[in-house]
Amino acid sequence: MTYIILAPMQGYADFIMRQSLTEIGGFDEVVSEFVRITHTVHSLKTWVKKVPELLNEAKTLSGVPCTVQLLGSNAENMAENACVAVLAGAKKIDLNFGCPAPTVNKHSGGAALLDSPNQIYRIVSTIKNRLPENIVLTAKMRLGLSDTSKTIDCANAIKDGGAMSLTVHARTKDEQYNPPAHWEWFAIIQAAVKIPLIANGDIFSPDDYQRLLKICTPDGIMLGRGVLRNPFLALQIKGLIDDIENTQIITVLNRFITLCQEKQLSETYTAARLKQWLNLLQQAYPPFALLLNQIKKEKEIENIKKALSSFQAA
Ligand SMILES: Cc1cc2nc3c(=O)[nH]c(=O)nc-3n(C[C@H](O)[C@H](O)[C@H](O)COP(=O)(O)O)c2cc1C
Repeated sequence: MTYIILAPMQGYADFIMRQSLTEIGGFDEVVSEFVRITHTVHSLKTWVKKVPELLNEAKTLSGVPCTVQLLGSNAENMAENACVAVLAGAKKIDLNFGCPAPTVNKHSGGAALLDSPNQIYRIVSTIKNRLPENIVLTAKMRLGLSDTSKTIDCANAIKDGGAMSLTVHARTKDEQYNPPAHWEWFAIIQAAVKIPLIANGDIFSPDDYQRLLKICTPDGIMLGRGVLRNPFLALQIKGLIDDIENTQIITVLNRFITLCQEKQLSETYTAARLKQWLNLLQQAYPPFALLLNQIKKEKEIENIKKALSSFQAA
């Protein structure tokens, strides 16, 4: 069955979202939001705070393995940090060579490295050499900065550096998130670089996945925004569930609130996160636009829960 990874998504796929989505099912792995490495070495406490799954054998509470993603440009310091992450409980480390954010790129991190395959090789190999043998190292890249002239060099650098697999978000940095994702590149990379490949970018429906399979045979897929819009997407792609009732979405939202409460997050923050998610959900489930409109100004969780109940009953 298709191996499906939940994409790292800074500001969205935090511990609570990873827990919510893996409770629904369909995921074989999740990846933490990127942890930025600058000059310091994060303490054990910081790693656990950033990736709470580390306290649970690096798994979500539903038992899905959670990979820790690092973003940085200083190979030595990244290796040092990766080793502390392992001491904190990490079992798999992923390296981010795709983030397009200007603050990150300014310090030569994320997608900025796609212009320097040698530097990518140095980072991957330095970390690989420092990690204990049983710890898996993977990487995630975009196709390039502005063009695809170095795509294969970067993929080779990742493979030669010792990564076990490569996730490709099939766009350049300059393309940001503009459609289309260039899926034809998955097959090109697979032909040129012998490394397990995870395909990522614009898989929003089971039909998209079937279209992807006509173009390439990836070793797995990674789902990002599609899952925030439709939390059942991984199950649907695996053919384990069919149509979704509105009541199932309401159950998911109620559970999200409970998880926020268990983490003792403030009501204001919980309400904001719920609305943030609802805003994406309504793209796949249009009736939920009405619910979002009803709770738009609401900050009290009890009132939001009442709105969810009456929406369910309607
Ligand atoms: C809000 C947001 C935050 C993201 N944060 C990260 C991140 O922390 N690390 C990373 O490697 N990619 C990050 N990405 C990129 C996604 O992991 C993924 O590659 C991209 O969204 C394309 O996949 P999709 O079309 O399935 O969403 C982020 C994307 C979004 C939309």
